[in-house]
Amino acid sequence: MSTHNADPRAELKRQAALEAADMVKEGMVVGLGSGSTSAFMIEELGRRWADGLRFCAIPTSEHSAEQARSHGIRLVTFATHPQIDIDIDGADEVERGTLNLIKGLGGALFREKIVAAAARKFVVVVDDSKIVDRLGTRVPVPVEVANFGWTNTARQLEALGARVSQRLDRGGNVFVTDGGNMILDCNFGPIADSVGLQRQLEQIVGVIETGLFIGRTSEVIVATADGLQRLG
Ligand code: 5RP
Repeated sequence: MSTHNADPRAELKRQAALEAADMVKEGMVVGLGSGSTSAFMIEELGRRWADGLRFCAIPTSEHSAEQARSHGIRLVTFATHPQIDIDIDGADEVERGTLNLIKGLGGALFREKIVAAAARKFVVVVDDSKIVDRLGTRVPVPVEVANFGWTNTARQLEALGARVSQRLDRGGNVFVTDGGNMILDCNFGPIADSVGLQRQLEQIVGVIETGLFIGRTSEVIVATADGLQRLG
């Protein structure tokens, strides 16, 4: 897969991803994130694999799995490897101060959260446009929901104050996650209490998982025009 694209932030994403790839050491169990920043990281790990570095990996999406396989990277499952040494993933927003995240604009939030939850170290790689004072400033909260009864689920999300839109794919069809579910993008505006919001969202029957990642981040590698910064 080519990681060269029209994204003007691509070079910064690549720099953050390369820095994180350097944290992967011989024998580790590695969580492979999803999205364009993670794709740079997987590409770099593929290069290192070709140079003889040996590790195994659990991917957070079918897309990342396919990319890893194309490099020959050894993929394993939780059945044999329940604990991940390091999980490296992108994010859509990082809240300065708390390092809480919004993830899932790429649609992989459910598997991404399962992998992050199993990781000793969860490293987030972003360019500096993703850093915000409050989550919800630039992007909605993606919420993965069951297809059955989704309009009722959407109504309950609206009752919490969200403007809800059903995610569509590029062809205009309903977006389908790797788990076969749909995503409702919930625009709450800037979120004052993301911990409380996550709790409320979890209460809604039909909600499978949300893109709010609270208290999970170990470290954020931020690429800026002036170089790399580490938060956390
Ligand atoms: C996918 C994600 C991605 O990590 C997030 O969307 C960031 O993507 P990109 O690196 O392409 O900006 O959460 O579900």
